[in-house]
Amino acid sequence: MRNQLVSQIIKHTIVSRAHLTPEMALRLLTPQCSLWSAPPEENPFKDPYWAFYWPGGQASARYILDNKHLVKGRVVVDVGCGCGASAIAAAMGNARRAVANDIDPVAILASQLNAQLNGVAIDTSSEDLVGTVCSCDLVVVGDMLYDEEFADRLFSWLTRLARDGKLVLIGDPGRDGLTGERRSQLSLMRSYPLPKNICEENHGYTDANVWRLKAD
Ligand SMILES: C[S@@+](CC[C@H](N)C(=O)[O-])C[C@H]1O[C@@H](n2cnc3c(N)ncnc32)[C@H](O)[C@@H]1O
Repeated sequence: MRNQLVSQIIKHTIVSRAHLTPEMALRLLTPQCSLWSAPPEENPFKDPYWAFYWPGGQASARYILDNKHLVKGRVVVDVGCGCGASAIAAAMGNARRAVANDIDPVAILASQLNAQLNGVAIDTSSEDLVGTVCSCDLVVVGDMLYDEEFADRLFSWLTRLARDGKLVLIGDPGRDGLTGERRSQLSLMRSYPLPKNICEENHGYTDANVWRLKAD
């Protein structure tokens, strides 16, 4: 089963550097892939969120690569890792342990493939960590505020983690889940203009921000 899935991932994706972190090669489903325009019934994957590199994830991985001191020697968890980019960025920045976490087991396989592609080692976890006690120094979430119900659950958890002294970074292009009230609990660390192809693939989003959750 694992080998079959790996073959399917390789068959239906291409290795791309056309994103905000070109120093990282990632297997992605792009407009160059036949599956991009195929009808859903021809798609062998159910909800392949891992096959896209979402603008929020691009910003958080970029921010880690630009600020490697934040991850060096630390335990970093990329929650909702998708293709694994922020965990890979943490590994590139010499994190003590970089964990790619996603409840979709195919995302875990894709993240492992992508880590291999970049010559770095990551750990993986497919547990739903949201709401748990998370033993790490830094939690990074990329583009996870797309659904209000989930955003509520996620944000409450992240707030608790920040109060416990963990560094919490959120990459987001302006999704609805980032309400004004939530925004008031965040400090803007950096805003990145998105490359042209990423804007076109993401329906008008032009920038993605990296926010840090305030500790108080
Ligand atoms: C929009 S994608 C973002 C992926 C990646 N962070 C990026 O920005 O490219 C959201 C991801 O979150 C995962 N996810 C949803 N709920 C989750 C949960 N409770 N814990 C971990 N991952 C979750 C999905 O499987 C999906 O891969």
